[in-house]
Amino acid sequence: MPVSGQPAKMTGECRSMQPLLKLEQVSINFGGLAALESVDIQVERGKIFSLIGPNGAGKSTVFNIISGIYRPASGRVLFKNIDITGRKPYLITDLGITRTFQNIRLFKNLTVLDNARIGCHTRSRAGFIGALGRFKKVREEEGLIRGRAMEVLEVVGLTEKSNVLAKNLAYGDQRKLEIARALASSPELILLDEPAAGMNVLEKQGLVDVIEKIRGMGITVMLVEHDMKFVMSISDYVAVLNYGMLIAGGSPDQVQNNPAVIEAYLGREVG
Ligand SMILES: Nc1ncnc2c1ncn2[C@@H]1O[C@H](COP(=O)(O)OP(=O)(O)OP(=O)(O)O)[C@@H](O)[C@H]1O
Ligand SMILES: [Mg+2]
Repeated sequence: MPVSGQPAKMTGECRSMQPLLKLEQVSINFGGLAALESVDIQVERGKIFSLIGPNGAGKSTVFNIISGIYRPASGRVLFKNIDITGRKPYLITDLGITRTFQNIRLFKNLTVLDNARIGCHTRSRAGFIGALGRFKKVREEEGLIRGRAMEVLEVVGLTEKSNVLAKNLAYGDQRKLEIARALASSPELILLDEPAAGMNVLEKQGLVDVIEKIRGMGITVMLVEHDMKFVMSISDYVAVLNYGMLIAGGSPDQVQNNPAVIEAYLGREVG
């Protein structure tokens, strides 16, 4: 598993050539609103893929569909060529997809370490019955979980704050802790929904380093972010959503110079 720097395992040349994640003709409606219309997305392994677009374009909805929170009205989601459309979120996590949320979701009264440990528990094998019958095994597993939690805290630079209560962290560190918790479940794909929101310039630079470190560990990154400088500096591929439809996709340079993208942002800075 890739938290300690090993690239994600691939079995055979054929599989390595397929995209890690594919959305095929995905649509979803909320009441009368078509929030996504026939969206096709392909995310290559080991890349940083960004999804941008104005408020309400459908970016978080894409993440909610990939992570199993919403089931699309039509279309399919394939991960490692497995059809995961409409599967339960915990099963999707088990397959190797993890995420953070636009609004920070931490256990504010628990320590940084405990928040990271909770991320590990989604992959823990010792259930309640196991806990009754196999104390030694459970203790061993707890040791492994603690080790992994410390490992992911190091990735995001929070090792020294492991005993601090989450609520006492600076805002930027809370966002990093969310990323650590997501990493703790040993993902192959991590979805980050506006990780730089509310961060100052220094915190954003730290976040760029963290995301590059994550990619260096062989984990594929899908990013939703409004800060265009941030997006354009870090992404391998940028896809643009507007009113639920993909209007452009390509390298950061291609996207920044695309007239449809400039129009969608109506004078907002995209470079
Ligand atoms: N559960 C829901 N019920 C009703 N409407 C929803 C629901 N989730 C999303 N929507 C609507 O779908 C559209 C897309 O929302 P979404 O949250 O995906 O946008 P977004 O691109 O992430 O925007 P932002 O940049 O503001 O976060 C919006 O019009 C939103 O109000
Ligand atoms: Mg959103």
